[in-house]
Amino acid sequence: MPSTVLGLSAYYHDSAACLLRDGRIVAAAQEERFTRVKHDERFPSHAVASCLKEAGISIDQVDAIGFYEKPLVKFDRLLESYLASVPRGYQSYLMAMPLWLGRKLWLADDIQRELGTTQTILFGDHHESHAASAFYPSPFEEAAVVTIDGVGEWTTSSIGHGRGADLTMLREMRFPHSVGLLYSAFTYFTGFKVNEGEYKVMGLAPYGEPRYEQAIRDHVVEVHEDGSIRLNLEHFEFVHGLTMTGNGFERLFGGPARRPDGPVTQREMDLARSVQEIVEDVMLRMARTAHRETGSTRLCLAGGVALNCVGNGRLLREGPFVDLWIQPAAGDAGGALGVAYALWHRYLGQPRRSAEGRGAWVPRGPAKAGHDEREVGRVRLQADLPPYADEMQGALLGPRYSDDDIAAWLRTQNLAAERLSRPELPGVVAQLLADGKVIGLFQGRMEFGPRALGARSIIGDARSPSMQSVQNLKIKFRESYRPFAPAILRERVAEWFELDCESPYMLLVAGVAAARRLPAAPGTETLFGIDKLKVPRSTIPAVTHVDDSARIQTVRREDNPLYYDIITAFDALTGCPVIVNTSFNVKDEPIVCTPEDAYRCFMKTHMDVLVLESHVMAKPGVRVAGARNHVSAEAASAV
Ligand SMILES: [Fe+2]
Repeated sequence: MPSTVLGLSAYYHDSAACLLRDGRIVAAAQEERFTRVKHDERFPSHAVASCLKEAGISIDQVDAIGFYEKPLVKFDRLLESYLASVPRGYQSYLMAMPLWLGRKLWLADDIQRELGTTQTILFGDHHESHAASAFYPSPFEEAAVVTIDGVGEWTTSSIGHGRGADLTMLREMRFPHSVGLLYSAFTYFTGFKVNEGEYKVMGLAPYGEPRYEQAIRDHVVEVHEDGSIRLNLEHFEFVHGLTMTGNGFERLFGGPARRPDGPVTQREMDLARSVQEIVEDVMLRMARTAHRETGSTRLCLAGGVALNCVGNGRLLREGPFVDLWIQPAAGDAGGALGVAYALWHRYLGQPRRSAEGRGAWVPRGPAKAGHDEREVGRVRLQADLPPYADEMQGALLGPRYSDDDIAAWLRTQNLAAERLSRPELPGVVAQLLADGKVIGLFQGRMEFGPRALGARSIIGDARSPSMQSVQNLKIKFRESYRPFAPAILRERVAEWFELDCESPYMLLVAGVAAARRLPAAPGTETLFGIDKLKVPRSTIPAVTHVDDSARIQTVRREDNPLYYDIITAFDALTGCPVIVNTSFNVKDEPIVCTPEDAYRCFMKTHMDVLVLESHVMAKPGVRVAGARNHVSAEAASAV
């Protein structure tokens, strides 16, 4: 009877590994966290080792091994695209082929060698892996499944239907017509890095006006009623060239692409807003088609475009589905998890654990616009909430470092830290937050997926008007307009936001509750672009975007007890159950993995306090109740 399945994704971006045992996730991790190379695409040796260690087994004890896509089919697509565009595509053909012929075509051998096994390697399909990652760990017994990304083998989007252990793919859209590549083209043209700057484009959109939306619809992309799209290939160089966009973009949008080091102007903001509007429209249309095709009232979502949390928020509010669940590792890292699930249910024929046995799913439909003020301040008990029922364990699936591990590491480094008791820790951290301190919080198992969810997070006071710019400029060393996200106690979310459902993975954007917003100061309505940022818009300005929205993380105690207790203690001190949560890293670095990574990041930035499980360290001059200051200036300069 097979029990253990290893899923892998690699060789494109965000390589990762995931281990299932008896159909449950034992561990999942991205390679970049271990190698410290952002979006590392190399074989995930470290991630595999970490998963095997967590399970306490060797590679010989794994029953099936799966890779998340089919290299030969992808090769076929590349070859066909290049041949279709000779001679224009010849240059990229010359660049890509040695890699394919030398490595990717012999992938099974490579993987066996890397793993040290002779076991057969099974290959999934890229979008089926995404679909499996969206449906199988979801809390739904039955659901429509939509995947949207740049491109897999040939597929760029798919619609499927999951029921129990069955997952049927119903429709697909094929390369080169791709929502992900459309968004990436504008990411490139607005001067950001493709496959990682898409988030910045989404963050920039609210500062702009959809001034170019019509031009894009007229000349660049045809959006059909059913959500399928057709790109005008005259404008896209990715089929045959090495850049994303051609001269047509320059003519349409008044000049060349922004250089990565050039200033962000109103044009980039307007372009971001325009493409964002179109992508949201496409997401809604695809969702309606999926609803029609499947008759389902629930939707599962994955693929890189599912990280567009502004679009997800609109799907929840305006789409045809009552419930929505999004795979937190929606990008290609999640393909490792998806192919593992697909092998378990579809290849090994194992039944799916009944969603009923896992409790009921929570969302209760679209949030009410303009939250009723009378409800503000009324605390519902957590016991009122139905149990939380997906299989992701709060996405806390990576390695953990115990207090003993941390104490041992501190000793080797000659570093001192105060060890607080578990009962006193939340109160001490909450007081520091209330005093305006910025805290690195390192505790529990590392997150799987791109968001930090309280295990490797930098936290701060959401009420502070200066927190956003302080954190961006002094801690993260990144663009000042980038918004921060709030983490809020699950049972209090409807008091503060126009949302009353789970958003545990920070993948939904919704408005700040009307009662928490501030009236616009006279003369500020006419502000443009980045200047809008200077106006406090709510009583939690550090997490309120310029369009009064926020990217929300709801926190339940059963997922992350210490994190929950810190926010609860902060609420007791301040009456505010909301804190700022941003990932524990600086610009261009992966999120921290080990205590050492966390300490280095702490010392490189202006963070005030570092919490490593129960160990607390503070920078000189920062007083921690019950603790001494331990980081000397010498230590600071030594890092
Ligand atoms: Fe993908």
